[in-house]
Amino acid sequence: MILPVTIYGDPVLRKVAKPIDKDYPKLEEFIANMWDTMYRSDGVGIAAPQVGRSVRVFVIDATTLAEEEPELADFKKVFINAQILERSGDEESMNEGCLSVPNIREDVSRKTHIRIKYMDENFVEHEEEYGGFAARVIQHEYDHLEGKLFVDHLSILRKRLIKSKLTAISKGKVKVDYRIKVPGK
Ligand code: NI
Repeated sequence: MILPVTIYGDPVLRKVAKPIDKDYPKLEEFIANMWDTMYRSDGVGIAAPQVGRSVRVFVIDATTLAEEEPELADFKKVFINAQILERSGDEESMNEGCLSVPNIREDVSRKTHIRIKYMDENFVEHEEEYGGFAARVIQHEYDHLEGKLFVDHLSILRKRLIKSKLTAISKGKVKVDYRIKVPGK
């Protein structure tokens, strides 16, 4: 089932999300809904707060980008209760966007490598290292669990330049071809 996407200005996007356990109600269905919603809106990843739930779950499917980065060929994963253990390497700037901040794209600087511990959809624990695009998307989705958005990383000047666009988004004055949930409505 496709769920409406929460957008900039929604308080759920600013909360620190809570971990879940195996008994979380209808987890399988919830994850299936996250996939449906992500594919419908052409996203590469989506985090639970973006569908209105403040829990530590995000999903990523970067397989469509395998042409540019062959190691992404099988990168379709569910991350539950993820913890980034280490960020390393250089700071690298790359253009980012977000389903919750429609029609805005900005360069964001992030570390190039991460080490992460998480549970998959079967609650099997994994500890892995990522670089490149995978590290980029994971850090973006992980931010959502911490109540952060990519625009928070911008310089004061860039923030000032997009302020009116963000205000418009928070009022639902934005054109998107997927379902959104306007804050307070
Ligand atoms: Ni996002």
